[in-house]
Amino acid sequence: MEQKRIKIKDLLASAEAGSTVNVKGWVRTKRGNKQINFVALNDGSTIQNLQVVVDVPNFNEDLLKKITTGAAISVDGEIIESQGSGQSVEIAAKNIEVLGVADPEKYPLQPKKHSLEFLREKAHLRFRTNTFSAVFRIRHAMAFAVHEFFNKKGFYYMHTPLITGSDAEGAGEMFRVSTLDPKNPPLNEDGTINYKEDFFGKETNLTVSGQLEGELGAMALGEIYTFGPTFRAENSNTTRHLAEFWMIEPEMAFYDIVDNMDLAEEFLKYMIKYALDNCMEDLQFLSKRLQEEEKGLKAEDRQMELIEKLKFVLENDFVRLTYTEAIDILRNSKPNKKKKFQYLIEGWGADLQSEHERYLVEKKFQKPVILIDYPKDIKAFYMKQNDDGKTVAAMDILFPGIGEIVGGSQREEDLEKLTTRMKEMNVPAEEMDWYLDTRRFGSATHAGFGLGFERMMLFVTGMGNIRDVIPFPRTPKNAEF
Ligand code: 4AD
Ligand code: MG
Repeated sequence: MEQKRIKIKDLLASAEAGSTVNVKGWVRTKRGNKQINFVALNDGSTIQNLQVVVDVPNFNEDLLKKITTGAAISVDGEIIESQGSGQSVEIAAKNIEVLGVADPEKYPLQPKKHSLEFLREKAHLRFRTNTFSAVFRIRHAMAFAVHEFFNKKGFYYMHTPLITGSDAEGAGEMFRVSTLDPKNPPLNEDGTINYKEDFFGKETNLTVSGQLEGELGAMALGEIYTFGPTFRAENSNTTRHLAEFWMIEPEMAFYDIVDNMDLAEEFLKYMIKYALDNCMEDLQFLSKRLQEEEKGLKAEDRQMELIEKLKFVLENDFVRLTYTEAIDILRNSKPNKKKKFQYLIEGWGADLQSEHERYLVEKKFQKPVILIDYPKDIKAFYMKQNDDGKTVAAMDILFPGIGEIVGGSQREEDLEKLTTRMKEMNVPAEEMDWYLDTRRFGSATHAGFGLGFERMMLFVTGMGNIRDVIPFPRTPKNAEF
C-alpha cells in the first residue's frame, strides 16, 4: 500500500520511531561512503533538513548517482532515533524514487555559501537556499499577522484599485497604463496625446497608494485597511526602494493623530511579536547568518543581535517628538557641527534625509521614533493643517537600520482648507470631486498611515537589501521574471 506523504515539519514535531512514512523533497547534500549515505532532504515546510539514511548495498547504483544537490526525491522509510547530534529523528530509506534530477554539471546552486548578489541574479532558484526560504516563510507569516491584527480589531479589508486616474501622493512618480500605440498615438490639435482614445478614455496610471479610495471606505465602514502592491516610478537605486512594493494602509474614522500613532505602534509591535512567537527557527538561522557576516566588523559597527533587537523594540515605548524638536536636536548634533552630514541642517523647513532619520534613531534615542507636525510644504495636500499655519499633523515612524518605515497623518476634514491647499499645490480638484464629497457630506476627523511591507520585512529578517525580501524585485532597469 502506498504511504501517505508527511511534511518534514510535521514529521520532526510528532513522528514516533518505528513508524513507516513517505517524505518528498529536494536534496540539499549527500555524503557518506560505500556502505552508507546520508542525504539531507528539505521540503520547504521548515528550515530543518530531514536526514535520510541510505544503506548503499540495498540500492541500485544508478539510482544513487542521481541523488545530487537539487534533485527531487520521494523516500519511503522507517523513522529511527537519530544517532548523531542535532535532530531527534531520521529516516532509514526502504525505497527511493528520483522524481526529478538536477544535473550537477549544470545546476547553479552548489552545496556551499553563495553571495546574495549571485543569488539575486538567480532569483528564480534562490527560494531553494536556507536564507531565502527562511525570508519567504517569514514574509508569509507577516502577511498573515497583518490580517489577523486588523481582523481582531474589527477593521475591514478593502481592495482599492491598482489602475487609477489620480495621483494620491501628488509626487507625479507614476507608471502610465495605456494601450495606445507608442509609435503613432492619436493627437489633439495642439499636438498633445489624445487620451480620450485610450482604453479608459482618460489618462491612467498604476497607483502609488490606496489611501484616497481607502478614505471613502473609512467614512462609511469606520475602520478599513488595504494591503496590496503599489508602484512608484522614482529613480531611487537604494537598498530601501522598490518600484513595486506592498503597502498596508489602515484608515480610521474618528481617529486623531494621537489615536493614529497609538494604533501604528501597537500594529508594529504585534507583527514583531507574531514573528517571535511563530518564526523562531527561521529567525535563529537568519541571526546566525548575520553574525557570520558581521564577524569582521568592529564591535561598535555590529548591529544588535536580531532576536535581541526585535525583543528590545517590542518592550520599549517609541519616542514621540515634533519635527521642530528634531530639527533642534539635529542642528546641534555632532555630525552637523562637524559637517559630517551630506545635507547639513541649517534651519527649520528642510526635508529630513535618511542620514538624519538614522542619526535620531540609532545615535540619539536608540529606539524607534515617531516624528509629527512636519512643515506643510514638504508633505502631501491631504494632511490636517495645524493651527500654527505652518505645520501639518503628519507622522513618520523611523526605525533603526531602516529610516522611515511608516508615513501617515490625520486628514484635513475641512472642505475649504482642503481645496485651498489643493490649489496652492496644483492638485487638480476637478478630477478629485469624488474625494471631496467625503468632506461635503458627513465629514469628520479621520486619520491613517501606510506601512511599507518590505521595509518591515527588512527589519524583522535583518536582511540588508530590500531586493532580498520580495520574491521578484522591480527596480530601475530591472524587471526580470
Ligand atoms: O510615506 P508614503 O509615501 O505614504 C503614503 O503613501 C500614504 N498614502 C500612506 C497613508 O497615509 N495611507 O509611503 C508609506 C510607506 C513609507 O513609509 C515606506 O515604508 C514605504 O511606504 N515606501 C516604500 N517602500 C519601498 N519602496 C519604495 N519606493 C517606497 N516608498 C514608500
Ligand atoms: Mg513618506
